[in-house]
Amino acid sequence: MFKIVSKKLLSFNIKNYEVEAPDIAKNAKSGQFIILRLHEKGERIPLTIAGKNKEKGTINIIFQEAGKTTTELGTLNIGDCIRDIVGPLGQPTEIEKFGTVIAVAGGVGTAEVLPVIKDLLSAGNRVITIVGARNKDLLILEDELRANSTELLIATNDGSYGIKGFVTNILSDIIAKEKVDIVYAIGPVPMMKAVSNMTKELNIKTLVSLNPIMVDGTGMCGACRVSINNEIKFACVDGPEFNAHQVNWDELISRLSLFKEHESISFENFKHNPECKCHKE
Ligand SMILES: Cc1cc2nc3c(=O)[nH]c(=O)nc-3n(C[C@H](O)[C@H](O)[C@H](O)COP(=O)(O)OP(=O)(O)OC[C@H]3O[C@@H](n4cnc5c(N)ncnc54)[C@H](O)[C@@H]3O)c2cc1C
Ligand code: FES
Repeated sequence: MFKIVSKKLLSFNIKNYEVEAPDIAKNAKSGQFIILRLHEKGERIPLTIAGKNKEKGTINIIFQEAGKTTTELGTLNIGDCIRDIVGPLGQPTEIEKFGTVIAVAGGVGTAEVLPVIKDLLSAGNRVITIVGARNKDLLILEDELRANSTELLIATNDGSYGIKGFVTNILSDIIAKEKVDIVYAIGPVPMMKAVSNMTKELNIKTLVSLNPIMVDGTGMCGACRVSINNEIKFACVDGPEFNAHQVNWDELISRLSLFKEHESISFENFKHNPECKCHKE
C-alpha cells in the first residue's frame, strides 16, 4: 500500500500527488515511470515519476484525468492508499552535456519534462524549454519550469498567454536562427510527430518519450510494442525514450486507439456507479 501524503490541483483536470514510496524514491532517475493499480480489480496504468524526495521517501505523480482509472485516481485524498506501485521502470533519460538543448512539452507532458530539464540543466546544458497548452488556465508548473530552464517560452492555442499558436511555431523560429544540439519532446503523439518531422529535415538529434498502452511493464505482454528503425522494441523496457526520426508514428497512433471502445464503456460504467468494484477491470 502506498499512502498519498499531499494532493494539489494544478489545473481543472491535472493533479499532483506526493506518495510514500521510499524504494522507488531512492532508485528513480529522470525519464523513468511507475505502473500503478488502484485495487485488486483495477487496470494497470503507467505514470511518469515527476519528482522524488529521497529523504522523505516520496515520489510525485502528476496526471491528467483522461478516462476511468485516472479519474478514479483523482478521487483519492490525502491519507488514502494506492494498492500497488511498481517501479522505477524503463530506461533513464540520456543526460550529458550536449550544449544547447530544446525541450518541447505539451499538455501533461509538461509535468513529465520537468525532471528531465532539471538534470539537463545540472549537467551544464543551455536549456530552452518550450511549453504549449490550449489556454492560460491549462498551463501548469510555470514557476518550476522557469526555475529549471535557461529560457522558458510559452505557446497557447488561443493566445491567452505567451505566443498564439503551437510549440512547433516557436521551435521552427529557433532552429532557423541558431545551432541546436538536441531536441527532446514529450506530450501528445501528433505534437511529437510534428517536432520529429521538423528536426529530421535539419538532421537535429531528437528524442521523444513514447506513450503506448502498457500492461505489465516488464517486456513480457507485448502491449507496448513499437517499431523503431523497422525493429520491434518494447517501450516499457527499451524505452520509453527513442530516436524520434526512427519511430513508426502511424503504427503508434493506430495501436493507441485499439481499445478506445472498451475504454469508453469502462469510463461510462464508472461514471454511473463509481462505488461498484465489479466492473473495474
Ligand atoms: C511511459 C508512460 C508514462 C506516462 N506518464 C503519464 C503521466 O505522467 N501523466 C499522465 O497524465 N499520463 C501519463 N501517461 C498516460 C497514462 O498512462 C494514460 O493517460 C492512462 O493510462 C489513461 O488511463 P484511463 O483509464 O484514465 O483512461 P482511458 O480512457 O483508459 O484511456 C485514455 C487514453 O490513455 C491511453 N491509455 C489507456 N490505458 C493505457 C495504459 N494502460 N497504458 C498507457 N496508455 C494508456 C490511451 O491512449 C487511451 O486512449 C503515460 C503513459 C506512458 C506509456
Ligand atoms: S507493457 Fe508489456 S511488454 Fe511492455
